[in-house]
Amino acid sequence: MSRTDDDTWSITESVGATALEVAAARAVESESDNPLISDPYARLFLDEAGPGIWSLFAQPTLPDDPDVRAQLRAMVDFMAVRTVFFDEFFLTAARAGVSQMVILASGLDSRAWRLPWPDGITVYEVDQPQVLDFKTRTLSRHGALPAVTPVYVPVDLRHDWPQALCDAGFDPARPTCWSAEGLLRYLTPSAQDLLFERIHALSAPGTLLATNAVGAEAFDPRWQARQRDQMDRLHAAAARLVDADVVDVEELWYPQERTDVGSWLTDHGWAATTTPLRDWLTRYGRDEAAKDLMPNLFVSARRP
Ligand SMILES: C[S@@+](CC[C@H](N)C(=O)[O-])C[C@H]1O[C@@H](n2cnc3c(N)ncnc32)[C@H](O)[C@@H]1O
Repeated sequence: MSRTDDDTWSITESVGATALEVAAARAVESESDNPLISDPYARLFLDEAGPGIWSLFAQPTLPDDPDVRAQLRAMVDFMAVRTVFFDEFFLTAARAGVSQMVILASGLDSRAWRLPWPDGITVYEVDQPQVLDFKTRTLSRHGALPAVTPVYVPVDLRHDWPQALCDAGFDPARPTCWSAEGLLRYLTPSAQDLLFERIHALSAPGTLLATNAVGAEAFDPRWQARQRDQMDRLHAAAARLVDADVVDVEELWYPQERTDVGSWLTDHGWAATTTPLRDWLTRYGRDEAAKDLMPNLFVSARRP
């Protein structure tokens, strides 16, 4: 299934399924012996969605191919440290007095439910309408109570989301804490550029921003060939184990090289820091995962 400029999806289709994959990794990490995170909502989403390729991420020990098992384990480690990175970013911002949070491409992120937010915080969640609909239905069916009531902004991030966000109550005159986690590869390079131009235009002084992006090495043909092979094996394992249509994640990405986010932010006056995923994996004793994972960068920035 190839992408189009105006495609939409439910939670089990196309890019929607990737939110379930991330939730599956968070469920596995949360239920492991020494978890870095605790996300009790992740499993609820998986149960509600039924089987699909995300089921493989939820059972990383199942495939008979040891390379696929290692790859799935690495994904769980990646999602665990990525979740910690964004959790810490938001809580540090909130404790420093920023009270307006915007989670772009929120998917099945449960930060509004599970983080110990101080009083007076507003969390805006922006994603495709059907994704947010699945999320709210599932959580309310289970009586999940948020720590801060999220404001949902159901809109496509290639459309006029700034208007939708402002209509929902967002105030561009106040400092904001933005996140765009697990999003950029699902946008074309020009849609990514427009996203950051719009964030910049909505960011008052004192605003903070965190995102993750693939590193330049990921565009090396050798790495791309290796990644294609890994994806084929993952897909084959999923087809053997899951009694459902499986979405091929690689067909959902836009593989073209794109603007380096850290440099773009610096050029636009932000103080930006870029840290390789590898450093975060090492910090948490998950070094093994670095061998299997696509080079990824964690970017954090502040607008003076
Ligand atoms: C890999 S998931 C990440 C979800 C969440 N940030 C997390 O880390 O758990 C990608 C998310 O991006 C959303 N997304 C991708 N492109 C989008 C677009 N053009 N408009 C709105 N949402 C989009 C998908 O619906 C999905 O929820």
